[in-house]
Amino acid sequence: MEVPLLDLKGQYATIKEQVMAALAEVLESQQCIGGPKVAELEKQVAAVSDCKYAVGVSSGTDAILNCLMSLEIGPGDEVITTPFTFFATIGCIARVGAKPVLVDIDPRTYNIDPNLIEAAVTQRTRAIMPVHLFGQMADMDPIMEVARGRSLAVIEDAAQSITSTYKGKKAGSIGTAGCFSFFPSKNLGGIGDGGMIVTDDEPLFKRLMMMRNHGMEPKYFHKYVGGNFRLDPIQAAALLVKLPHLGDWSEARRRNAAYYNKRFAGTVVQTPWISPDCKTIYNQYCIRVPRRDELVAHLKANKIGCEIYYPVPAHLQECFACLGYKRGDFPESERAAAEIMALPIYPELTCPMQDAVVQQVLAFLK
Ligand SMILES: Cc1ncc(COP(=O)(O)O)c(C=O)c1O
Repeated sequence: MEVPLLDLKGQYATIKEQVMAALAEVLESQQCIGGPKVAELEKQVAAVSDCKYAVGVSSGTDAILNCLMSLEIGPGDEVITTPFTFFATIGCIARVGAKPVLVDIDPRTYNIDPNLIEAAVTQRTRAIMPVHLFGQMADMDPIMEVARGRSLAVIEDAAQSITSTYKGKKAGSIGTAGCFSFFPSKNLGGIGDGGMIVTDDEPLFKRLMMMRNHGMEPKYFHKYVGGNFRLDPIQAAALLVKLPHLGDWSEARRRNAAYYNKRFAGTVVQTPWISPDCKTIYNQYCIRVPRRDELVAHLKANKIGCEIYYPVPAHLQECFACLGYKRGDFPESERAAAEIMALPIYPELTCPMQDAVVQQVLAFLK
């Protein structure tokens, strides 16, 4: 049986008519930039995130970039995050001219180890950027404690974790701001690129709104050097159709995860550890296994979708050689990069499909 890592066509088939109608509405209106769909999506994402404000932007990457620019973080500043994340987290810090200062992860959650942050803080530190990886939020209380004591901003990279919770609080609602991605593989995925920033901070919100439109207010008067980070109304229209399903889709992912957990119990497969403080949305279901690369090759040969998130931690990426880190600096991130792999977890996955995945994994590892 073939099992893809993700089946976007399957999901689209369930909402096709509503999506087409919503797109037609935008096209008929010819409101091609901004407008009511973007504003409505901002309102709804702010609401589901328990935040006062939301700013639609062109991608999760631009959400992070806009946050850093709006907080005036730049050359001479340092931002603390982990090397075990998608490139964009650290790429954005570098793009504004600030220095990414990396600390290792908690090997159970793959999120930043809060016990290591304090020692990384210097006079130049301006922000901490925890990444809520794979759908589970980082351990936010100790992170906020370090930040509060030193008036540091906390930018939550919640690209993979919209609506997930930590001690009952929503992703994006604890730090200074939270950044979401609507990349199509996310739990709430667009039909192209898109992103959003949520915050309770009104002055920051106003600045984010201006910054996404070349720092312009009123028209052709530029207070800041911003960018074109605007969210496309076509994306907003499709996302407004999908958002009401997000809770059910994430619940289906949790059900699928429970099935895998049960089937892999007592085997060499190390299943995800979810903190009792967290409710994950399982953007990815990542296991650790021996002979990982061989297993990936075996599954792919047998038409079972799987992926390695992420094979190379940031401190070992060619473009970050300038940061001066070396192999061995972040052992947990390096170990995770060598052992981890993601299995299909998308909501439309059926039991026979999951059974086929489990059988292939266990047959290979036996
Ligand atoms: C942790 C993390 N940060 C940032 C991003 C960037 O989001 P986007 O791809 O929408 O630019 C992603 C998405 O891929 C991500 O997973």
